[in-house]
Formats: sequence, C-alpha cells, structure tokens
Amino acid sequence: MSTASLFLKACCTMDHPAYLKWWTVFFLCTLLFSFSFGEVRYVLPEEMQRGSVIGNVVRDLGLQLSQLHARRARVVAEGTSLHCELDTASGNLLISQRIDREELCAQAAACILQFQLLLEDPLQAFSLVLDISDINDNSPAFATDEIKLDLVESTVLGWRFPLESAHDPDLGTNSVCEYKLSQNDHFALEISTQINGNAYPELVLKKPLDREEEAEHLLEISGLDGGHPVRSGTASIRIRVLDANDNIPVFSQRVYRVSVPENSPLGTLIATLNATDLDEGVYGEITYSFSHLSDKMGGVIEINPLNGEVRVAGVIDYEEASSHELDVQAKDGGGQASHCKLIINVIDVNDNNPVIEIKSASTRVAEDSKPGTMIALINIYDLDTGSSGRVTCSISDYVPFKLVSEVKNYYMLVTGEMLDREVQPEYNITVTATDAGSPPLSSVKVLTLVVDDVNDNPPTFTQSAYNVNVLENQPMGTFVLKLQAQDIDDAANAKIIYRISKDTNSDVSSLLTINPDTGELFTSRLFDYEQSAHFQIKVTARDGGDPPLSATCAVNVFIKDQNDNAPVVLYPVQTSGFIAEDMVPIEAPRGYLVTKVVAVDADSGHNAWLAYRIIKATRPNLFMADLHTGEIRTLRAFMEEDEPKHTLVVLVTDNGVDALSATATVSIVISDGLPVFNELFQFADDSQDENNLTLYLIIALSAVSFLFLLLISCVCYFKLCRRSYVYRSTTNSLPIFPTTYCSSTLTDFSHCGTLLGDDRYDPFLTTGSWRGDFRFGPNTDTDTLKKRSAAYQKNTLRRLSAERGSLKVRAGPQHPCYVIK
Ligand SMILES: *[C@@H]1O[C@H](CO)[C@@H](O)[C@H](O)[C@H]1NC(C)=O
Ligand SMILES: *[C@@H]1O[C@H](CO)[C@@H](O)[C@H](O)[C@H]1NC(C)=O
Repeated sequence: MSTASLFLKACCTMDHPAYLKWWTVFFLCTLLFSFSFGEVRYVLPEEMQRGSVIGNVVRDLGLQLSQLHARRARVVAEGTSLHCELDTASGNLLISQRIDREELCAQAAACILQFQLLLEDPLQAFSLVLDISDINDNSPAFATDEIKLDLVESTVLGWRFPLESAHDPDLGTNSVCEYKLSQNDHFALEISTQINGNAYPELVLKKPLDREEEAEHLLEISGLDGGHPVRSGTASIRIRVLDANDNIPVFSQRVYRVSVPENSPLGTLIATLNATDLDEGVYGEITYSFSHLSDKMGGVIEINPLNGEVRVAGVIDYEEASSHELDVQAKDGGGQASHCKLIINVIDVNDNNPVIEIKSASTRVAEDSKPGTMIALINIYDLDTGSSGRVTCSISDYVPFKLVSEVKNYYMLVTGEMLDREVQPEYNITVTATDAGSPPLSSVKVLTLVVDDVNDNPPTFTQSAYNVNVLENQPMGTFVLKLQAQDIDDAANAKIIYRISKDTNSDVSSLLTINPDTGELFTSRLFDYEQSAHFQIKVTARDGGDPPLSATCAVNVFIKDQNDNAPVVLYPVQTSGFIAEDMVPIEAPRGYLVTKVVAVDADSGHNAWLAYRIIKATRPNLFMADLHTGEIRTLRAFMEEDEPKHTLVVLVTDNGVDALSATATVSIVISDGLPVFNELFQFADDSQDENNLTLYLIIALSAVSFLFLLLISCVCYFKLCRRSYVYRSTTNSLPIFPTTYCSSTLTDFSHCGTLLGDDRYDPFLTTGSWRGDFRFGPNTDTDTLKKRSAAYQKNTLRRLSAERGSLKVRAGPQHPCYVIK
C-alpha cells in the first residue's frame, strides 16, 4: 500500500473532538507568525457564515480603534472580489461573502486570499492574508450514475475490470478514501493505485457467470471520503451476461406418455413436445425430429420440426400395435441435441365385430334326446380389447335350447327341454355374439337343426267305434268300410298296417277280411240277417316303428234285412191230409170271431208285415179276414142254406219289395149247441180295450218319465264324480264306469239312441197291429221258431183269446255296449 493511502487512512480514522482541538492550535500558530512581517494572517475554514468574525485587526495590528474611523480605514482586494469587510466600530474583520475553497482555489494545496487594510492620514497599508482551509463539504461523485458492463458468461474467474474512481473536490482526507460494493455473490472490489498514485476500484469476478441463471447483475458501488461526517457517492453497475451456447435443449419431460384412439383422422394432434434451450438466438432455436423411426411408423406419425407437435399421418391400428415408443430429438442451432421418449398408447376402438366360430355342430338330433344333449360347441372372440373385446353370446328366446359356458369364450349349445318333431321338425337357432363396446357390435350365425323322428305317437282312428250296415245275402268280397288311422310320426314310423285284432271273437273274426295297407274291409261270407243281425270285430292299426305302436277300434256291423223269408203259417197247422177244424156256433151273430190265421215271417220290419186276404171261400161274402190281424169273422149271421162246413184259403203276404206269400187253408164247421161268447163280438169289447190301452199308455209314460229322471240323475252324478271316478283301461282310453253306477239297462239308452235310425226298431205299438201279431226277435233262430210254433200248436183258441188282453211288446235285441262291461 502506498504512503498516500496510509495517510488518508489515518486522517479518516480521526474522531471529531480531536479534529477541533487540532484546528484551534493551528489557528493560534498562524496569528503569532503574522506579527513578524507587518501583516496579519488569518487561517479560517471555508464556508463560514456571513458576518462571522475573522479577527480583530485593531488588536492584531496594534492600532487605535478611534483611528479606524478617523483615518477611514477600509479593506480592499487585489483584483478579486472582496470576501470580507471591516467593522470600524469594533475593528473586527467580518465575512461578507461565501468563501468556497474549491471554487476559489480548486485543488491547490493552499488557498490564500490577499487583502489590504488601508488607512488615510497618513496612508498606511497592512496586508491581510486569509488562509482558507478545507472543510469536507463535498461528497464523492461518480462520473455516471450507472456503469454498464457486458460480460460473456464464459468469462474466467479472476478477471478484473477497472472502474472509474469517484471524484471528491475536497482535499486530503476529505477526498475519496474508500469504496464499497453492494452485497453479491459473483463480484468483489479491489483498490488499485496507479503510478500517479491515484487509487481506483477494480471489479473482480469471483464466481462463474451463468446467463441462464442470472442474465443481469445489478450492483451498487459507493465511494466514501474521510471527512467528518463521512460523505459518500454511489453509482450502479449494470452487468449484462452475454450468452454462450452452453445449454443443451431440455425437454420438459424425459418421457411423454400420450394416448390416441385408433383410427384417429389424419392430422389429429397426439402430443406437443416442449424442449427449451436457455441459450439465446440461434443457440436457443430448437428443431424437433424423430430419431430411428421405423418405416412403418414413418407413415403413421409425423412431428412438426418447429413446434414439436406430433400428429397422426396415417392409420393407427390398435390390433397391429397397442403402443409405440419413439425417440424424439431436439437440436439447437449450435448442434447440441437431447432426446426424449414419446410413448403413444393406442386406445382400442370397437372396430372389430365379434367372431363366432362353430367348433362342432350336429345338424340332426333325435326328438327323444334328453335335455342337455349337446348340439354344438361355439367359440366366440373379439379382436378388440377391454370392454370392446368382452363378448357375450345369446340365442333366440323362443327355441328349446340354451347356451352353457364352462370355459371362457366357449359355449355349448344344448337342448333345454324335450323336443317334439311333431310340433316342430326343424329349428333355425340364431346365435348372436355382442361385445360390450360403445356402440356394441355383434355377429349372428344361424344353425339349422333337424329333429329326427322317433316312434312316439301311436296311430289314431278317427273314431273309436264305427257302425256299418251290410245287406244280407251280399256276395263275398263286398266292400264294407274303409278304416283310416293317422300317425303323426314320420316315414316308417307313420306307415300303418291294418289287421283284424286278435281280441275279436274267433267265430266272427273270419266274417270280414281287411286290406292291410288301405284299411278297407270286405265281407268274406254271406250274411244272414235271420241268423245274426250284428257282430263286432276289432281292427288294429299298427305303425312300422321299432317297437311298433298300435291302436284298436271296434267295428259294429249291422246286417240289414232282405225279404228272403216267406211268411210261415203257424195256425191253422197246414199238414197235408188233415186240417184242424174251427167250430163256430150257428147262432153266431155278424162280426163274430171265428178263428185267426197266425203266420210269422222270419224277416223283420216291413218284410215281416203280413197281410191276410181270403182268396178262396166255399161261400163268398160269409167270412172276412182282417187284413192285419188275420182274424176271420162272420160277415153276417148264418142261414139255413149255409153249408155246415166251409173251407177258406187265406193268402198271407209280407210287405217286402218282392212280396213273398203263403196260403193257409182254414176249415170252419158250423155247429149247433155251442155257446156264443159275447166277447168275441167284434165291437163288444172296444171300449174296454180303449180303457186298457189308456191305462197301459199312462203306465208306459210314467215308466219312461221315471227312467228319464233316473238317467238325468245318473248323468249329473257322473259329472260331479268324474274327477274322482275315472278309470282308465290299458287297451282302451275310454272311461269305464263301474256297473254299480251304470246298470246295463240305463246305459243302453245312450247307446241305443244312436240306433234309433235302425229300421229294426220300427215301432209296432199301433192299436191295430199288436192284436195277435206275433213277432220274433232277430236273436231267435229257426230252431226256437219251430219250438215256439209247436208250443203254439198246443194252445187252444180259447187260451189265445184269454191272453188277448195282455200287451206283448217285443224287447229289442240286447245291443252291445262296448263301453260297459
Ligand atoms: C414449454 O415449457 C416452458 C417451460 O415449462 C413453458 O414456459 C412454455 O410455455 C412451454 N411451451 C409450450 C409451447 O408449451
Ligand atoms: C330355416 O331357414 C331356412 C333357410 O333360411 C328356411 O328355408 C327354413 O324355412 C327355416 N326354418 C324354420 C323352422 O324357420
């Protein structure tokens, strides 16, 4: 350190009371010195106030105060302006003008002002010397308020920058003696002394600069002087840090993860990469590019080199790749580069339909397959992922099938219930696979399944029983009836073969033959109504299944009568040679019943209606035959000339189309002495007959009414009890009523109602016809007929007459009732 700076330091460290004391000593010394030269010297500080007393010239020059006024004492300056004046009253020298030492003497080491004190009478001049001493009245000042400095950030440590020193017009210690720098990290201040001894501050770089961290440093430098009090001046230092390409571009993220839906349109913004380079200018200009981009990806994604925007440039397909990892480079104008990763996740869009694959499928299934029989194995999948790839499988609701899935994405199509080919022979099963995407996509596949027939349906006849009428005496092979049974099964299971059932009585089973294929029934012999009027056969229809099923129906064959029997005269018995004679009293009046021709006809119905006519008589107009009854009555009373013995030939004819007839020869003897029976008069008993008839009719009506009521009751009873009393037979599906609830006579009604059209049931209850008409039921064969006629022969006419009052109603044949056992 130089000596000057040491001196400055010393004076600057003096404190205020010491400074004052020193000033007083200095002042007195100068006074003493001035006496010896006839002059007076005052040492005074600059900047004293006007009117301040500098000194008393009267005392200091040894003058008389009174002289001053008398000798017109005055102070004059030599050329310069007068800074002081004399107070003649007191002899004090006063400051008349501001004295600035820096103005008057600039930087001169001593600043002396010369004045003369003039006295007249005699003229005397005294020299007044004012030695102006410096006071610290100026602050240090820098030439500029702001020092501008440009520094490259790569500036090396220890670099020095000389700063302009501050200027203080004051002298010595009152001048600048110290510099201070505001607090900062990078710079320090050092004082250098030039050869001429001037001290100046230097800025020294202590820490590397980083423009990117702090592009500008603002410092403050202050210069301080050594006066009391210390004055200071400041200037700011603005240091701009200049850039060097010392920064590489930096991406805001090391890895960018973005998602983009597949099939996004061209130009869709995927990501904006942001790299920053702290450098300026071209060093900070960044260019983006992909490094190592595969050819495939090159057409799909593009990057804007200027702003780092990554956009779609082709078709992004999730199914091809679900994510892409790209290397992006950012390069600045200085060639510095950095990289980041761009990971693009492709979001799956539901763009793939589910796929249905039938792994195995049967096209046919037997109708007796158990529920759960597998029809098909179905595999479904979807190329999409997530919910777009979650597929559910379904089939139409209205089919008897269901889907069972035990392994993911595999479905078994199984039968859900029993199938029935007869209800639906074929199914189109629609399998639908739908994914859970939005919107969902679906696929459909149709499986056609044919249901194979199983012989599960027996043939059925349209009726359980058929009634057919067949004329007797028809040739063999006459067509009777065509039976038809249906089987709803298919093919051989529906092929029906007809045959006469083994259940049929062996004696009637040979009466008819059947065509096994067509079900046509033909006669296989001649029928005779008089022998058998009805028979029943059972026909079985059997299908071709394995095992076969069958059904049976009953065929009731009613043989219709033909007029093939001539009337047979029972009475009078016609034997050759002898004819029984009928006796009649000679007094018999007109209309007296003489005898009755009794004839029968084995036929029935009209064929058995007999008409009686006298075709030959010994004496005509004496006897008449009743057309219907065969009664022979007198037409008049006998007379003398009438022969005692008469022979009548009565022709008996039936009512058939080709009427057959028989003749009866009646021999009548008129005898004397026989009593006359009144009741044999034709008209005597009419009223009584009428009464009897009425009575019988009433009884019959009552009986019919009673039976009808009973029937109604039974029907009601069965209706009510039906739920609990239905019996089913194994062979016949018709209900069977226990006999306790259904007597044969009662149930006959229901059945016989269907037979009322049968002409064998012609009512013969006319008032005329019952009288003496005698008819055999069709059940009676010729043997019984003969027996009856023999028995009849034993009966006398009287007995016949006695029985006339009773009503003979022939009961109909016992009709088969297949319902009731
Ligand atoms: C890039 O990042 C910087 C710093 O994070 C930010 O200031 C600037 O705005 C970003 N630029 C873009 C284009 O996002
Ligand atoms: C099933 O589909 C086929 C072909 O479309 C059609 O001919 C047939 O009638 C359909 N069957 C049923 C039962 O719908």
